[in-house]
Amino acid sequence: MNKRTTSSTSSNISTFSSSSSSRRRRPRKEENDTEHPQPRNQGRAKYFLLGFSVATILLTGAAITTTYGMCKGVLTSSSCRITLPTKDSQRTTPKRKRGLLSLFRKKRNEKIEPGCSHLEPKDYVCQWIQHSLQEMLSNMRFVRSDNRMSNQPVNVTATTDDTGNHQPRPKTDFPTAFTSEALPLSPHQTSLIEDLGQQIRTVVPDWEERVTEIPWGGPRNDAPRSTQWWAPASPSTSKTTTPLKQLDGGNLLFSYLRIMNWPQDLRKVYFPFKACKKQGCPAPFALNHTLNFREIYQPWLVTPTMKAVNAKGLVYHQGFSPSLDGEHAPHGIVWLRPGLVARLDEVFYARTLVRELERSVALSMEQSRGRVGKFNVVVSGKDFSFGAMPSLRGIKAFVTILQDHYVDRLGVVLLADMGRICEILLKLFLPLITEEVRNKIVLVPHDKNERQAIFETVLGEDNIPTWLGGRNDYRFNVDQHYASDDAIYGTDVQATEYLSLMPYHS
Ligand SMILES: *[C@@H]1O[C@H](CO)[C@@H](O)[C@H](O)[C@H]1NC(C)=O
Ligand SMILES: *[C@@H]1O[C@H](CO)[C@@H](O)[C@H](O)[C@H]1NC(C)=O
Repeated sequence: MNKRTTSSTSSNISTFSSSSSSRRRRPRKEENDTEHPQPRNQGRAKYFLLGFSVATILLTGAAITTTYGMCKGVLTSSSCRITLPTKDSQRTTPKRKRGLLSLFRKKRNEKIEPGCSHLEPKDYVCQWIQHSLQEMLSNMRFVRSDNRMSNQPVNVTATTDDTGNHQPRPKTDFPTAFTSEALPLSPHQTSLIEDLGQQIRTVVPDWEERVTEIPWGGPRNDAPRSTQWWAPASPSTSKTTTPLKQLDGGNLLFSYLRIMNWPQDLRKVYFPFKACKKQGCPAPFALNHTLNFREIYQPWLVTPTMKAVNAKGLVYHQGFSPSLDGEHAPHGIVWLRPGLVARLDEVFYARTLVRELERSVALSMEQSRGRVGKFNVVVSGKDFSFGAMPSLRGIKAFVTILQDHYVDRLGVVLLADMGRICEILLKLFLPLITEEVRNKIVLVPHDKNERQAIFETVLGEDNIPTWLGGRNDYRFNVDQHYASDDAIYGTDVQATEYLSLMPYHS
């Protein structure tokens, strides 16, 4: 690679020097010039263009050489590698008829080895470059082989019925986008929930007092009971009771224990990942950690800079996903349009997102009377540019907050209108998140029917906004948005105090 670039560059340099110095022009060239006399200016423009091309080639060469030099070590020595499934295994994937979706399914098979979160930014850049090249090649193959197969019937419009109308997809295609109100509990799970509940109250003696100050959505006088972060057991005679609600902190403990994989031994678990991945921690650590986070970070705060970040409608909760048959328990929907960030300030960017997710959990809790508390996220890649891209460090901090403190709150993420730059951002993002979350990400195909079918299933027909081809004409207005009853205002200084009080998250 290196060699070829150098040789092509030097040959261009020689062409340039032979034609640029008019005095040392070779006789043959002079003859040519007299035969076809050119105006002086045109000649100059020609030389300028030539010079420009050479400069471009030199620069490209330098860039390639530098990148190659920088990445050579990383790519050969790095133990953390995103491995793609082999070409042959891709060929035989039965899901290929789903077009774009299957492209993404392949990506979801990527294995990210442990220890990847310790990669340097440089390593990421190299990984992208390598990965993007690989992907470009594999995409080209994909297209070619598809053309070859084009005379075989492929049911890409599987969601279109005989009359040509699209049909929503079955809800079972998106198992995490819907949650049943009353989850069944095994005896083992019940006893683990009781155990952990007991332990946390022993090691944090003022637990019961402190948890009342940090409900979902933040502390306010009229906060509904159903939004309690830690809900005391409700009597089994209550109308809305479920097995989980009959346990102290049932809903909360269920989500933490699920992410801990229902461990046999509560003395050593590997969650939260950043703090406990290596040596393990006692299970109550994660709950104490989130209690501290909620007290210090105050994820519900709204500050002037957050309003500035969100001025154009970067992120907002609006509506609920459809329910499972005969139940309420809907997931809130959070709409995220990274292209509409009005001010890129990382600490406040993350806060703006976190506040909206926090609020969506609160509203889902309220709607389901304390039984669910989850959100689905729709990300639109429209108008996204490099200028709107947060730094890797900012993304990492945000992901850590979500993974540690919004445990099992995410239903599904729909990625729509993804362009090239978004894919790069995605590549940055994917290695940072756990497999559990990665499996919840759905790349929405560009095909109109397929896309509509997915939106109708996961979001509900009436919720699809006009900017995604639907009929919900809700228009975000930043002042109205933060003027609702549940907004809790704070100052920008308050909003950044956590950086020194909880350095783990800065
Ligand atoms: C494709 O669709 C047609 C008509 O809807 C159906 O009869 C056929 O079985 C489908 N083929 C596959 C492979 O699903
Ligand atoms: C809970 O967190 C606080 C603040 O970080 C810490 O001082 C305390 O030791 C923790 N308790 C337990 C049991 O981990």
